[in-house]
Amino acid sequence: MSNNKNSIAFSDNADKFSNHQYWQIITPPIKALFETLKNIPEIKWQKWLDLGCGAGMCFTHFPTTCQVCGVDFSPALLTHARANIRKNHLKNIKLINQDINQLDLKEKRFDGAMLFQCYPHLNYEVLIIISRFLNLNGWLVIAYGAEIEVIEAKHHQHPELTNRPIPLGLHMKMDFTNGGFKFEEEWKLSPQEVSDKAKMESERPLIAFLGRKII
Ligand SMILES: C[S@@+](CC[C@H](N)C(=O)[O-])C[C@H]1O[C@@H](n2cnc3c(N)ncnc32)[C@H](O)[C@@H]1O
Repeated sequence: MSNNKNSIAFSDNADKFSNHQYWQIITPPIKALFETLKNIPEIKWQKWLDLGCGAGMCFTHFPTTCQVCGVDFSPALLTHARANIRKNHLKNIKLINQDINQLDLKEKRFDGAMLFQCYPHLNYEVLIIISRFLNLNGWLVIAYGAEIEVIEAKHHQHPELTNRPIPLGLHMKMDFTNGGFKFEEEWKLSPQEVSDKAKMESERPLIAFLGRKII
């Protein structure tokens, strides 16, 4: 179990990340992202990692036949994640309380890893670690959702939190390459694919990057 300063700061934010209004804003872009991914025939959905899963906003969007391993270092957020699993009667999610920077899983052959609104707290070296747990040609999805500006503002109230500017465009492509992934695609989902509320909250409703493990 992780008990460092960052996980404590995220525990302080647990109510915000599990807050109903936040979920309403964030759900349409998550849905749009998963629909986009499910339309890519090469992507397999047997086993996925949901890294920095928080309260589990992505959980219901994975196919119910996909075994999902949610990892987060905040015990408070994992408590919300457990409640979410119960509420939605999900049988395909297991949770692990770990720091992604020291990821140590028995299972190694995942088809993909989702990092939703988590990458600004990490560095590209973590991609090398994640890659160890993926199948060759496994997928990496890094995405930022509708309310990222609000989240960042909130995090700045916690100066002890690791936070950095969101890498975009070429910087993100470099991170994928340095982490051992071939950069495949970048999406900016159009405003009509997200709710009116999300449009009001952000000019950047959803940005997502897709890569493939090649080494
Ligand atoms: C902005 S929240 C996003 C949560 C969820 N993916 C979502 O979209 O709602 C970031 C999450 O990443 C987790 N996190 C950040 N750094 C982490 C690390 N090094 N190891 C594990 N979890 C981490 C936090 O505890 C938090 O739950």
